[in-house]
Amino acid sequence: MNLIQKIHGNDEHTHDGQPHTHQAPFWVRYYDTIVGVVTLGRTRKVHQSTIQLARLQSGEAILDIGCGTGKLIFAAEKVVGSAGTAVGLDVEPGMIEQAKANAAKAHSHATFGVASITEIPYPDNSFDVVTSSLVYHHLNQEQKVAGLQEVARVLKPNGRFLIVDLNPTRRGLAVRLPGHSRLAQEDYVSREVVAQLAAADFANITAGAHPFNQLSYALGVINA
Ligand SMILES: C[S@@+](CC[C@H](N)C(=O)[O-])C[C@H]1O[C@@H](n2cnc3c(N)ncnc32)[C@H](O)[C@@H]1O
Repeated sequence: MNLIQKIHGNDEHTHDGQPHTHQAPFWVRYYDTIVGVVTLGRTRKVHQSTIQLARLQSGEAILDIGCGTGKLIFAAEKVVGSAGTAVGLDVEPGMIEQAKANAAKAHSHATFGVASITEIPYPDNSFDVVTSSLVYHHLNQEQKVAGLQEVARVLKPNGRFLIVDLNPTRRGLAVRLPGHSRLAQEDYVSREVVAQLAAADFANITAGAHPFNQLSYALGVINA
């Protein structure tokens, strides 16, 4: 198994939704570098675009689930400001350790913790916005359904859930990474994610191409 496969799991994407108990795996240190290569040095721009798609406003509370090393939440923090709240959660303790190290360097006040999308450790109605970037394709069907229910639970009435994930119909390095060969050559965000958002009672669903053209997005609003 090579480095990128270790980061992404194998073709079965074996994340079980349970917090791992091991120390930070060595490859976590290289995650940001790999993302930088895949985005051709435009990581920050990609995250800013994602935040814009979520229509994030000053003073709002945002949760990024599957936050990895925290870079998206740092971009979000700038928008919500000191009146808002920025939280990053990830099932992989090594990612959260790296996110906390990145936060210290960035003088960020964001909160990070280890948790699965299937068990979000926050009360009902906690967030205005939940984002999830490049996480959906790691989840099995059961986790997708349970995860959507959890996100709906922690969103405030009229809260938004933005899912960003790979679009295998677009040419680019991201969709050619090892560990992604099982992905159907279709824009599953526009089809599968939209259908699952609707089944989970999200409304006003919009979907389309992310400004970084190897990605697609779907956005749903939870009913009041
Ligand atoms: C490809 S990384 C994306 C990281 C970051 N969101 C980004 O856009 O760069 C996928 C992340 O999803 C996390 N993940 C996988 N299954 C998860 C689950 N059930 N709940 C929360 N996070 C999960 C992984 O640990 C990993 O950090």
